[in-house]
Amino acid sequence: MEIDVITIDGPTSSGKNSVGFLLAQKLGYQYIDSGSIYRAGSILVLRKKISSDNTEEVTEVFRNLRLKTRTHDHEVRFLVDGEDITDFLHNTEVTQLVPVIAAIAEVREAVKVIQYKLVSSKNTVMTGRDIGSEIFPNVKHKFFLTADVEVRAKRRFEQLVVKDPNVKYEVVLENMKDRDKQDETREISPLRIPEGAIVIDNSNLTVEQTVEEMLKSIQPNVILSD
Ligand code: C5P
Repeated sequence: MEIDVITIDGPTSSGKNSVGFLLAQKLGYQYIDSGSIYRAGSILVLRKKISSDNTEEVTEVFRNLRLKTRTHDHEVRFLVDGEDITDFLHNTEVTQLVPVIAAIAEVREAVKVIQYKLVSSKNTVMTGRDIGSEIFPNVKHKFFLTADVEVRAKRRFEQLVVKDPNVKYEVVLENMKDRDKQDETREISPLRIPEGAIVIDNSNLTVEQTVEEMLKSIQPNVILSD
């Protein structure tokens, strides 16, 4: 059987995760958020107290990363050596470290191996920053999701304020602009619209409407699961 991979790239809080998960569910595909791979490795780098300058040791962590996913209660959980690390993926220290580590070429090579392994036997929707451009450049269906930076910052703010009522929208907005810049201007695999990708601005679309847009171009006659 030929494996089908659908790629969704886009900046932070562009709705990739919710959209990717729902699209995968509708198609009966597995869903992989590649940001979580970089985040999982970053958790181990922090735990092992490895400096982000130590490219060799950081890369070793990613080369040895034994990552598994499982879907539980309508979300994808990430397991490293059997430990469920999903709840730590979005810790502040991890979020700060991950763009630094994701800019290391050797780390990206190691992550590529993990990405190929994860899709080797299952139809997949994969989200990220370079999935349609670098990792799976030859697939049939590629999407680039985006939204106004203010809309994205509001989405992120609403997620964060539940956990910490002192979070300020202005700070979230500034951090988001910084992260966009880091991801767009880095030398290796900068965030860009992959060749052949359909661009969807979902500033004014719900997750369901965004997925509907995608399905129109994927398979107009597809039989969807509930
Ligand atoms: O999507 P998420 O915010 O979880 O990604 C965290 C970071 O991982 C991004 O800011 C980016 O630096 C990096 N990343 C990447 N390539 C990907 C996915 C994520 O460089 N395919």
